[in-house]
Amino acid sequence: MLIRKYFSQFLVLLCLAAAAAAQAQNLPNVVILATGGTIAGTGATTTTTTVGYTAAKVGVDALIAAVPELKKVANVRGEQTMQIASENMNNDAWLKLAKRVNTLLAQSDVDGIVITHGTDTIEETAYFLDLVVKSKKPVVIVGAMRPSTAISADGPINLYNAVLLAGSKEAIGKGVLVTLNDQINAGREVTKTNTSTLDTFKTPELGFLGYIQGSKPFFYRQSTRKNTADTPFDIMNLDKLPQVDIVYGYANMNPIALNAFVAAGAQGIIHAGVGDGSLNNTVVPSLTEARKKGVVIVRASRVGQGIVARNGEADDDKLDFVVSDTLNAQKARILLMLALTKTTDTKEIQKMFWEY
Ligand code: DGL
Repeated sequence: MLIRKYFSQFLVLLCLAAAAAAQAQNLPNVVILATGGTIAGTGATTTTTTVGYTAAKVGVDALIAAVPELKKVANVRGEQTMQIASENMNNDAWLKLAKRVNTLLAQSDVDGIVITHGTDTIEETAYFLDLVVKSKKPVVIVGAMRPSTAISADGPINLYNAVLLAGSKEAIGKGVLVTLNDQINAGREVTKTNTSTLDTFKTPELGFLGYIQGSKPFFYRQSTRKNTADTPFDIMNLDKLPQVDIVYGYANMNPIALNAFVAAGAQGIIHAGVGDGSLNNTVVPSLTEARKKGVVIVRASRVGQGIVARNGEADDDKLDFVVSDTLNAQKARILLMLALTKTTDTKEIQKMFWEY
């Protein structure tokens, strides 16, 4: 009698295990690469939300364990690629992250990647990866505006959304994506628009790609620019990126910072000018001098939206400058850095700013 009872319990367990295995077989395999940030942050009290917490404290396994619902949408496993507040993100970290992403996506048992990241430089990492990932599989970057210990922490739902997006067929071929606050942005255009609110990530004017609602992604548009596997940028054998710095335009500007960057060996300068990328007269001699030394100059704008027109506020043909199109200064720096790994020809580089 007892044997029959145990045997039937064994059979039930066997069926449950088989059902779980079958379900797992139908779910996408998503790898979560953790880099730090507020999503991994902790505060002294549950009301320590916007300020006063410490970023980059919680490990990837704890982040995954905090969201058991992940198992319903994907087979997930985590790797702690680094543990930093994202204001400390740098070229070496980008190269390490990008190489790991490309290696994983080349594996047939990986369907998508989620990267947990501090929000301060998500927009830069997203565009960098948008240019150097060599796969059409989804790569989704996610962060949080409140630490994991806070009341109504946004990290868990953002992570859940990111994993289901990274495992979705809809996200294939859309370039690197950023999701927080149930919204989907393109890596090329997303930017942080508020220092502390949950809805800080936007693509002003050009708009979101879509939303996540009821555990499903809804896309309404996609970027027209080439990305990921369709770009010529290959970082797999690089261990260093060219030095490109940014100077910010303002009334009463002077060339001190610009001259210092050039003296320190910058191979490219992004000039984030006022308005349509206008140049204060005080910096034009230094910019032309830098150009003569072979430094590539890109005219961007501090405004943040709109096209910086070639030969608009400066004679770019005569000065041999490049214009940034719609890229803000921090994203223009990324494209110029990668462009300089291929060429110093300003005509070729200008084409890249109009293509990626
Ligand atoms: N230190 C900032 C960072 O890691 C915190 C902001 C955040 O992650 O939301 O980007």
